[in-house]
Amino acid sequence: MARHVYIETFGCQMNEVDSARMLALLGEMDYHPAESLSDADLVLLNTCSIREKADQKIFSALGRLRGWKRGREGRIVAVGGCLAQQKGSALRERAPHVDIVFGTHSISRLPELVRIAEGEGAAVSTDLSDDTSHWDVLPYLADGAASAMVTIMQGCDNYCAYCIVPYVRGREISRPSAEVLDEVRELACRGVCEVVLLGQNVNSYGKKEGGIPFPALLKRISRIPGIRRIRFITSHPRDLDRETIDLFSEIDSLCPHIHLPIQSGSDGILSSMERGYTRSEYLRKVENLRMARPGIAFSSDFIVGFPGETESDFRDTLAVMEEVRFDSSFSFRFSPRPGTKAAGMAGTVAREEAGRRLVRLQALQDRHTRERLEACVGKEMEVLVEGKSAKDPTRLCGRTPCHKTVNFSPVTAKQGCMHRVRIRSAGPHSLSGEEGGPCG
Ligand code: SAH
Ligand code: SF4
Ligand code: F3S
Repeated sequence: MARHVYIETFGCQMNEVDSARMLALLGEMDYHPAESLSDADLVLLNTCSIREKADQKIFSALGRLRGWKRGREGRIVAVGGCLAQQKGSALRERAPHVDIVFGTHSISRLPELVRIAEGEGAAVSTDLSDDTSHWDVLPYLADGAASAMVTIMQGCDNYCAYCIVPYVRGREISRPSAEVLDEVRELACRGVCEVVLLGQNVNSYGKKEGGIPFPALLKRISRIPGIRRIRFITSHPRDLDRETIDLFSEIDSLCPHIHLPIQSGSDGILSSMERGYTRSEYLRKVENLRMARPGIAFSSDFIVGFPGETESDFRDTLAVMEEVRFDSSFSFRFSPRPGTKAAGMAGTVAREEAGRRLVRLQALQDRHTRERLEACVGKEMEVLVEGKSAKDPTRLCGRTPCHKTVNFSPVTAKQGCMHRVRIRSAGPHSLSGEEGGPCG
């Protein structure tokens, strides 16, 4: 009997691609994607634990599922991902209506766990056992999808002082290059023309296992017919090497955008975060990237209110933003995570003060984002059409090579294709244009 699963994904792209794997695995058990919660027999929360707020969001989603579960006999609630990994069976103590708790290394066990829950049992599986068998599962791909994420590594060995990821995702393991290349070939056969390579620190790909280093992997992917755009996230500023930077001038299909999280512009704070680079080393890499690919777009992540951050440290962050003028960024108030070094550090910044710094940082970023978007007006850009525009379903929405969102009214353009679009105006976060012609 066909049943339906509703997956809600929290957190980063790692979770998005894992959710697509879970959908593929459940598809083999005849579970199909549900349109809404009320149609579902199984609800799966793929969770994140990066900040306290993420935890709270998930606990309130879980609270709402209590009534849903009572709504019909046999309904199943499963919780996977990073919060599940962190809390394990304690999650069931706090939310007894949860049937399945499965961690980040138990994805391939999901069918078995669902069967236990179908038989009215409860199951918890949160071993961090270096299991990579879920890599064999091709993530679910929607019809007509033009872009796909490809996992190239899992885990992280960096232990930045604030970060919970190494504890919930396990040690860093690179996926064998032959597997990565096979998956990209398969995606190209299915009509995908853009791949986004995923890892917490893609620049250390292949250093321990995997076969070939990251630049070599990029070169091989660029030779696969049909792949017209290559992106990767996330780069670590310490490990981004000269060879990878130079590839931006050699490989046309490498998109002119890089997400390079700086976190802070103060050398003192970068050192207590244990990031392994200084502000000037970061700026040198930015400069080299700009030389390799003039006009390359930069995005970043920032943490404000890290323990010990003074007003002067924070001003160093604003100054580095003025220097780079990032195209966009994500910024967060520091959140102490259990078990991390920073959680026990002295020099707590008051919540209100951190909040004020966040507002100042975001106001500056908004100005830079706007400037970068306005600089696109009048140009014709190649847009990969991703789907309908969120605000106006008669319009289409896509991305430029430098990762800016463009909305435009279609004439012949359709989802999954590349089209030339003339940019007519810039909004606060996106561009608006009109269709030129298809691209070769
Ligand atoms: N691997 C990536 C980032 C993963 S987490 C990297 O190294 O850049 C995504 C972002 O969340 C981080 O870049 C950081 O800015 C933010 N973050 C992580 N832990 C945090 C914490 N404890 N408090 C606030 N922000 C945090
Ligand atoms: Fe976290 Fe640092 Fe690893 Fe990124 S590199 S996931 S910030 S520990
Ligand atoms: Fe969150 Fe886990 Fe990603 S903690 S940010 S979902 S790796």
